[in-house]
Amino acid sequence: MDMNENSRRSFLKQLGAAGALALTVANAEAMPSSTAAQAQPTPADAAQAATRAQRMAWWHQAKFGMFIHWGLYSVIGQQEWAKEVEGIPIPQYELLAKQFKPKPNAAREWAKLAKQAGQKYMVMTTKHHEGFCQWDTKLTDYCAPKQGPGRDLVREFVDAARAEGLRVGFYYSLMDWHHPDGATCKTDEAARKRFVEYTHGLIRELMTNYGKIDVLWYDVSWPLKADGWESERMNQMVFELQPEIIVNNRNGLEGDFATPEQHIQAADAGRAWETCMTLNDSWGFNRSDDAWKTAKTIVGNLATCARGGGNYLLNIGPEPDGSVPSESVAVLEAVGKWLSTNGKAIYETERGSFGWNTNANYTRRGNTLYIHQQFWPGHTPAAEGLNFFQPEAVIAIGGLKPKVKSARILKTGQSIPFTQDEFTLRLTGLPIQAPDQPATVIEVECDGEPIIDHEAMRPLWPRYKVGVS
Ligand code: GLC
Repeated sequence: MDMNENSRRSFLKQLGAAGALALTVANAEAMPSSTAAQAQPTPADAAQAATRAQRMAWWHQAKFGMFIHWGLYSVIGQQEWAKEVEGIPIPQYELLAKQFKPKPNAAREWAKLAKQAGQKYMVMTTKHHEGFCQWDTKLTDYCAPKQGPGRDLVREFVDAARAEGLRVGFYYSLMDWHHPDGATCKTDEAARKRFVEYTHGLIRELMTNYGKIDVLWYDVSWPLKADGWESERMNQMVFELQPEIIVNNRNGLEGDFATPEQHIQAADAGRAWETCMTLNDSWGFNRSDDAWKTAKTIVGNLATCARGGGNYLLNIGPEPDGSVPSESVAVLEAVGKWLSTNGKAIYETERGSFGWNTNANYTRRGNTLYIHQQFWPGHTPAAEGLNFFQPEAVIAIGGLKPKVKSARILKTGQSIPFTQDEFTLRLTGLPIQAPDQPATVIEVECDGEPIIDHEAMRPLWPRYKVGVS
């Protein structure tokens, strides 16, 4: 990513919640992919492609992961760009390294929370743009064991995730505001060589010292491009050390998956993608950012990702001591509670082809359709007039292609009577109150792949003849 791309992403970050909400009703499949558009396929990409399906099988099933932004910036509590945005000089910023004294094993709380939330993998910032290494590196003293924490925070994170049976991912920012060569590498070849050696060396340590790592999540590649970073060689080393790993596309190569940020955008069919998103508007801890998303928004976003065949990497920004802000805990617990009965509608689902619907989201697995009713219809007007209401709710879906064999409420198992003609499926006899929150899922067995295309009905509707009303 160059800085323009980065500014764009920051801007999207500000759009955050609103953008995501708008997309919960959109057909993710219809949207063009843009994030990875500038990356060119390379021979290294081709080699990775051969093993991709097998390496990524767990990730496609997982659907939901926890992102963790935690570092020296957490001490300031003004999100992770504070150094640059506030223009803090390096010597002053370095003082934070002494003040950063997290409680032991904070990562265990995150891992337990992730497990409870129904997340299947965790990705932590091992080094963010600030340049501080959270692990025991031999390549710089600007690292957790030699500064305030006095221990290896990456080790604690890895152990915590594994203890909960979660997959382990490392976020790594190529951009480095602290290293002496971090900016001059663009114009000074000797600096570039040194900095690339340093960068590859750090990544080598991460890929060597912590056992099996499941995801490598590169970030901002300013000020170099893929050739400057020697990204092909970088990925080759990564795959030699971690043959099963999956890598993203932010070191200038295609990688295994695209990374739309703060918005939901399906990549082209056949290309894996993962939306990363904040729970409020900040990645790193931001004391007064109170723009928290609701559990309803998160559940809706998760379903929107799943319907487009994508993953959802949802961020927490722990406080300097490692505690998770209580608002994040509350939302994640609510999402986990919903997933504990509705997980079938998310995990292991496949990309589907569905028209938009403001009231409901859709996912599918094989021939099973999951209707995620976010806004429950309540009383249904009877045919005789709007002032008489039937004592039941009805959900109608226009443009569903295959024949329906059965329907039931996922949470209660209650089977639902229905009628279906070529235009509409009517699910009847439903309770007036929504049986589940923040969305009720109805599992519908079909005799073929469920496709919903309400536009296709337009020319087919029986209409009055001209002059007859
Ligand atoms: C952007 C932000 C960065 C954050 C990342 C997460 O690149 O600059 O701070 O880590 O998004 O995707």
